[in-house]
Parts: sequence; C-alpha cells; structure tokens
Amino acid sequence: MQILKDKIRQEGKVLSDNVLKVDSFLNHQIDPTLMKEIGEEFAERFRNSTITKILSIESSGIAPATMTGLALGVPVIFARKRKSLTLSDDLYTASVYSYTKKESNDISISKDFIHDDDTVLIIDDFLANGQAAFGLMKIVEQTGASLAGIGIVIEKGFQPGGKLIRDRGIRVESLTTIRSLQNGIVEFFEEVHA
Ligand code: G4P
Ligand code: NA
Ligand code: NA
Repeated sequence: MQILKDKIRQEGKVLSDNVLKVDSFLNHQIDPTLMKEIGEEFAERFRNSTITKILSIESSGIAPATMTGLALGVPVIFARKRKSLTLSDDLYTASVYSYTKKESNDISISKDFIHDDDTVLIIDDFLANGQAAFGLMKIVEQTGASLAGIGIVIEKGFQPGGKLIRDRGIRVESLTTIRSLQNGIVEFFEEVHA
C-alpha cells in the first residue's frame, strides 16, 4: 500500500534493528485519513469472505480494526489485556507471551460478542513474532466461529510470525512488509524485487 509506505518513510523512526516507531500516525497520534484508507484496503481484500465480525486487540489494533469494520459494515471487538484473570465463565481467554516485555498476559473477550455462526477477520497493527495473532486465533477457535484471515498494517518480514501463521494455512494480508531495519534504514520487501 503505497501511501502507507510513504508515511513510514516520512515519519517512521528506526529505533533498533527490529523496532520501528510509528507513534505519529498509528501507535500514539492517529492519522484518521490514513486509517480510513487502511480500513477500505482491508475491506477490499476480504470483500468476498462474508465477514461478520472484526476481532482486534487493545490498544493499537483498535483504530485500523474500527475503520475496517466501518468499511465492511460489521461490529468490531477488541480483546482486553490483563495481568492475570480470575477465571470467568463469561470470557474466552488466551495467554500471550510478549518477547518485547518478557511477560505473559491473558487476553480475553466476552462470550456475548462472537458466536459459532460468525466469520471473523482479525486485524492488528504489527506482526512480529505473532504471539498476539496466535492468542486471537485461540480465542476465535473457542468461539467456534470461522476465521477468514488476518489483516496486518505493518508486517516485519524478518521476524517469524508471518511464516508461522501462513504455514498453518491461514490467510495473512499485510499492507506493508518490512524486509529490514538494519543500519537505521527501512527497506520494504517490494523494493528488493523492483
Ligand atoms: P508479537 O509476538 O505479537 O509480535 O509481539 P511482541 O512481543 O513482539 O510485541 C509486543 C508489542 O509490541 C505489541 O504491541 C506489538 O504490536 C508491538 N510491536 C512489535 N514490533 C513492533 C515494532 O517494530 N514497532 C512498534 N511500534 N510496535 C511493535 P502491544 O504491546 O500489544 O501494545 P499496543 O501498542 O497495541 O497497546
Ligand atoms: Na498491537
Ligand atoms: Na503496539
């Protein structure tokens, strides 16, 4: 997605060989016009999948997920993060390990909002190691709903999440895939083959 690549080139800050800071439009300040285009792009890519619900995770997945829900005309649910949950019959829960923070968190959604007759599209901001995506997939499994696929705003192609998920036969649509952040330079996958 060209406008997203341009935005990353203009405003993204490479913090290290594996962290890209995009606080000016995605993770802190949000660019609503860009988010709207992102939502429309995901909607276009999954138009034929008869999605009935979008599932995301707080906090940075919510903006692109909401715009996708708007474009597809379906509700958006975001999983909540807790340090540790008292077991509840009213929740679907999965454990997510963060390599960045070196800790596990439970994520959960209410059983009220996704059912076995739903077709779910998962949306998140980043795909790195894939732990958040796997947690969301475990939640979809518990609901009995169908999973149409996963939409990612920025995939870091040099980290293993994307391959792990695609190897399971799950459709992953990333709007941009970063090949490398080495030497402070953002290199996109497409450019390598151009
Ligand atoms: P992963 O296995 O799911 O890929 O997660 P990881 O532990 O690697 O990352 C944990 C958090 O860091 C997630 O956000 C994820 O979106 C974010 N993240 C991963 N790589 C990058 C990156 O290069 N740049 C930025 N800006 N974020 C990255 P989170 O802790 O769930 O926070 P929130 O922002 O959604 O609230
Ligand atoms: Na996220
Ligand atoms: Na994040």
